[in-house]
Amino acid sequence: MQVVHTIADLRSALAGRGRPAFVPTMGNLHAGHMALVRQAKPLGEVLVASIFVNRLQFLPHEDFDSYPRTLQADCAQLEAQGCDIVFAPKESDLYPQPQTFTVHPDPALADILEGHFRPGFFTGVCTVVLKLFNAVFGTTGGGTAVFGKKDYQQRLVIERMVQQLALPITIVGAEIARAEGGLALSSRNGYLSAEQLEQARALSAALHSLAQAARQGQQPLPVLEAQTTQALNALGWQTDYLTVRLRDSLQSPAAEQLADTPLVALGAARLGSTRLIDNLEF
Ligand code: PAJ
Repeated sequence: MQVVHTIADLRSALAGRGRPAFVPTMGNLHAGHMALVRQAKPLGEVLVASIFVNRLQFLPHEDFDSYPRTLQADCAQLEAQGCDIVFAPKESDLYPQPQTFTVHPDPALADILEGHFRPGFFTGVCTVVLKLFNAVFGTTGGGTAVFGKKDYQQRLVIERMVQQLALPITIVGAEIARAEGGLALSSRNGYLSAEQLEQARALSAALHSLAQAARQGQQPLPVLEAQTTQALNALGWQTDYLTVRLRDSLQSPAAEQLADTPLVALGAARLGSTRLIDNLEF
């Protein structure tokens, strides 16, 4: 496995190797990331993972500085899964000048939910992902990139970017990897105490009960969302949103769509200072 730090070295490493399958990450890799890598392996002739904690997608008060950076351990895991190339640029490699050209995704999709609570987040994500795509696929004639459904809205925004900008890239979505008890695996779970880890199961449980209640349709959706939010907050969480949306547009479903349209329940909530997100398609 080769570990490269610049776009030029990445392109040299890729020369003559065929079409890449690509898994972008911010590192501190866990079993969820590894499932993406395994899924990506047969989707290209050369498997590339990137590790880059992208300042552009963090708000000033968020955890950019404390985000865990574990490059050596990450590379060991990637090598064990058959990764061919790790692209781990330093900030000065990827952003040699301040990144003043940025990608602004459709506000209808990107200014709601995560984008509402983290203004500018998806501009930061799209800008870095487009740049990573150019680094990986710019000289290979396209390829495939794998994104986890854990970040449901992120995957949708990236799919829309690829479509709107006619990038020669296929986006594949990977199912959510969960710990026993239902908690979605996340690098941020490492911030939780043992007691909070127990408590943290309640987020996926809340999404399950919201989904079930929405399908039964005995109350209007806003009432169900408010009730679920209250119940989660009563367990010590501070909820940003718990909501049911249409899977493709992330708009609210009409009452008559609750019975049988494909929907997704999405949630974001804080336990102490740790903010977790999760979702459930139903
Ligand atoms: P990061 O949070 O490191 O996640 C990298 C990829 O792993 C994303 O596609 C994410 O959805 C996926 N992932 C994380 N936890 C998962 C889980 N439990 N199950 C399935 N997939 C999971 O997402 C980012 O980094 C960044 O925003 C990035 C796209 C790299 C741009 O900076």
